[in-house]
Amino acid sequence: MAEADTLLEVKDLRKYFPVGGFLSGTKGWVKAVDDINFSIARGETLGVVGESGCGKTTTAKLVLAAEPVTSGGILFEGKDIVGLKPKDLMEYRRKVQVVFQDPFSSLSPRLRVGEILAEPIVTHEHVSRTEVNRRVGELLELVGLRPDMDRLFPHEFSGGQRQRIAIARALATNAELIVLDEPVSALDVSIRAHIIGLLEDLQKDLGVSYLFIGHDLAAVAHISHRIAVMYLGKIVEVAESLELCENPLHPYTKALFAASLPSHPDEEREEIVLTGEVPSALNPPEGCRFHTRCPFIMPHCSEEIPELKEMSPGHWVSCYLY
Ligand SMILES: Nc1ncnc2c1ncn2[C@@H]1O[C@H](COP(=O)(O)OP(=O)(O)O)[C@@H](O)[C@H]1O
Ligand code: SF4
Ligand SMILES: [Mg+2]
Repeated sequence: MAEADTLLEVKDLRKYFPVGGFLSGTKGWVKAVDDINFSIARGETLGVVGESGCGKTTTAKLVLAAEPVTSGGILFEGKDIVGLKPKDLMEYRRKVQVVFQDPFSSLSPRLRVGEILAEPIVTHEHVSRTEVNRRVGELLELVGLRPDMDRLFPHEFSGGQRQRIAIARALATNAELIVLDEPVSALDVSIRAHIIGLLEDLQKDLGVSYLFIGHDLAAVAHISHRIAVMYLGKIVEVAESLELCENPLHPYTKALFAASLPSHPDEEREEIVLTGEVPSALNPPEGCRFHTRCPFIMPHCSEEIPELKEMSPGHWVSCYLY
């Protein structure tokens, strides 16, 4: 249910990509995102986790209004952005920004950092050049860089510094929600914690919300207040981070934990090892999407999709074991 301070609400969202040629007609559908629901409160970080191909980036693109939806709604501050006119969409794009995985390709190599950071301000606001320059300096300091670095080009920075610049760019127009699509996956392990720490500090200071996408459950749990676990276009479990870490219910979530955290000798965690590949999102398995890899499969698991059930306040799971 949407709460009073809900910033974003995604309702029954679907994205199907047609498969087939121009001449042969549509032969099937890649169900990249298949009827998902979630919400993000102001100042909250919602983590979305799952293996490659489960629909995380497609979800990000839908939320960013970078792809048309197949069906469903995306409510921002209570207003559906699906089908918005370009003028209203522009205002939405000011408030909802993105940081991509690869800080090398996401920043234009021909622009100086000062120009990269000025661009969104100039696009969305009518302010003087002096004010733009002041804001650029402020943004650089906010992400732990020096204001005089505005003269430099992206290639003069390290990967971690470039991701700081991408974060500064996302903040340039006072964004209320930032979609972070695997923002530290391409960085050296040694600098990941610094970027995560920066994101946490910025959230504390600015009250910005994050949709934090990743494939490593332990890492996503570290920064997120709540987590949605995705498998083949569906959300299979949602819970507060601590609750999910202490009491994962879905066999897939347990397997992700086993893959993410080295098991502790005195821990009584039930280990589930993921075997096999994720099936294709083109005509995915009937019933529970996880049934082809699940060690607990029962006869009806392959017949009907289990509904998400609330097992304890805020902890939802879609599995016939519960
Ligand atoms: N433009 C597209 N056309 C067809 N299939 C796509 C397109 N974009 C993504 N897909 C497919 O949708 C599924 C989900 O992809 P994606 O959202 O990128 O997953 P993730 O980010 O979790 O790795 C994959 O099977 C992918 O091949
Ligand atoms: S519904 Fe059945 S196949 Fe799916 S995760 Fe639960 S036990 Fe496994
Ligand atoms: Mg992706």
